[in-house]
Amino acid sequence: MVELFKDDFYVFGNPIYHTKSPYIHKLFSIQTGISYKYSSKLVPLNEFKNYMIDFFLNNGKGANITVPFKEEAYFFSHVLTDRAKMSGSVNTFKKLKNNLILGDNTDGIGIFYDLRRINFITKIRNNVLLIGAGGAARGIIFTLLSFGCNIVIVNRTISKVKCLLECFKNKIGSISIFNDDLRLNYHFDLIINATVNLYFNPDLDRIKCFINKDICCYDINYLKKNKNTSFILWCLENGAVRISNGIGMLVSQAAYSFYLWYGFLPNIDEVINILVK
Ligand code: ATR
Repeated sequence: MVELFKDDFYVFGNPIYHTKSPYIHKLFSIQTGISYKYSSKLVPLNEFKNYMIDFFLNNGKGANITVPFKEEAYFFSHVLTDRAKMSGSVNTFKKLKNNLILGDNTDGIGIFYDLRRINFITKIRNNVLLIGAGGAARGIIFTLLSFGCNIVIVNRTISKVKCLLECFKNKIGSISIFNDDLRLNYHFDLIINATVNLYFNPDLDRIKCFINKDICCYDINYLKKNKNTSFILWCLENGAVRISNGIGMLVSQAAYSFYLWYGFLPNIDEVINILVK
């Protein structure tokens, strides 16, 4: 056996020291009266599969998976939800009654819930400029397209965007690659930063002209003590007023994992309010 697993649920990742997930689930447990144990576990980089086998053999009920194992988690799953299939990655496991492992991805529905909560996206304000084309961006696109959003993607590596366009081409809504020559033709209601928290991303110079007091700016990243990320600071410096970091997304994706495990949603807004205080 690789490790001893005492608790019902874990978040597995590497690194993992920064995770707020056990705290969020403690708040869900108190709020709903459902008593469950949820901890974090550091997994060595080449041990993911062994840890998962051991965990589920030791009565593990479910798990959250974070960086860098979301893709491995996809391949570990026996059954996948549609949104996990579309995003190519898994952040939530549930052990089913027949002992098969169901893989889900709640990142997209998590950000969508948060964007609706803060009124950053509506049926008529649905033109999105997405920065980034990695795993995080991919997890978000399916839900936004399903809502009918028009998405334009800007990213350092063009081949990754082309890959995403191919993957999502048959969905409702539209998706395209950012074209500098069309700058004057674009209108965006929302910019989402789905790149890692960079000190400065050179792509930002290409999209600076879209920042103003009306556009909403959302960063999927968040920092300790709710400090502004470098992307949010850059937006503020360039005239943005409507800004948000990814704390609400973090709580919402955790709530949808809870939903997968227990069949109902906890009160998400109440927990977000505790975390942002
Ligand atoms: P994740 O799976 O968490 O999304 P990822 O797949 O490594 O992480 O993707 C991170 C995103 O940040 C990608 O869009 C990546 O751009 P590339 O597709 O060009 O790699 C972007 N990113 C990372 N470092 C960057 C940098 N120094 N400058 C610009 N973009 C960067």
